[in-house]
Amino acid sequence: MRDLVIELQGISKVYETEDVETHALSDVSLSIYKGDYVSIAGPSGCGKSTLLSILGLLDTPSKGSYKVENKEVSEMNADKAAEIRNESIGFVFQSFNLIDELSVFENVALPLRYSEEGYAETFITQRVNECLEKVEMSHRASHRTNQLSGGQQQRVAIARAIVANPAILLVDEPTGNLDSKSGDQVMNLLKELNEQGTTIFMVTHDPRYADKATRQLILSDGKLSATESKSPEMLSA
Ligand SMILES: Nc1ncnc2c1ncn2[C@@H]1O[C@H](COP(=O)(O)OP(=O)(O)OP(=O)(O)O)[C@@H](O)[C@H]1O
Ligand SMILES: [Mg+2]
Repeated sequence: MRDLVIELQGISKVYETEDVETHALSDVSLSIYKGDYVSIAGPSGCGKSTLLSILGLLDTPSKGSYKVENKEVSEMNADKAAEIRNESIGFVFQSFNLIDELSVFENVALPLRYSEEGYAETFITQRVNECLEKVEMSHRASHRTNQLSGGQQQRVAIARAIVANPAILLVDEPTGNLDSKSGDQVMNLLKELNEQGTTIFMVTHDPRYADKATRQLILSDGKLSATESKSPEMLSA
């Protein structure tokens, strides 16, 4: 049987502000296995980013159980959750979130430098170079990130997200700021990474891209309404 990376059971999220309660997620259950490439689509405001924040341990659910690699997240204190986030989760956002003052190499090295493992410099150099090769950005290692095209910046962001070898890559609209050619390159890269074994959970509005996933989910009003469909028609429903 394949390893379970993530298991959500009966997850709900209610945002409470002074006078309104917003039910962003209602009773969401989901299992993600090692090697899965899961895409999630759904209309604006349906809860996609909320779900991603909970999966990424950036926010906590109001109700339900969430396990990362069989460890129950609600039983962890904030320090432990941060440790799991650093060790097990890689993030790729629509806005690349790179640090302009640092070189491409140093941006990718950041998660290793912040890791509790205390990696040796030789290991960091080797691992960063390996990841830059994977995303075909070795030739720009010493450039500042603001000297790169959008597509190149996203590829660097992906290298940074995989450098610490996370159990899962969480990706939110990775092509939202890219032209279609760069977007295609980024999507092909994610597909390649998945074929090499990286587990991916991706939010995308684009049915063409969702179709690259091995499992396609739809979120609507905070509820997972369809699972394991391979039909692109259902994604535009
Ligand atoms: N911090 C917050 N406080 C209060 N309500 C929030 C907060 N964050 C999100 N919401 C509400 O929760 C619901 C889900 O928001 P979410 O950002 O998850 O949607 P989304 O599916 O990612 O939308 P989009 O496609 O536009 O990015 C929305 O109704 C939103 O207004
Ligand atoms: Mg969103």
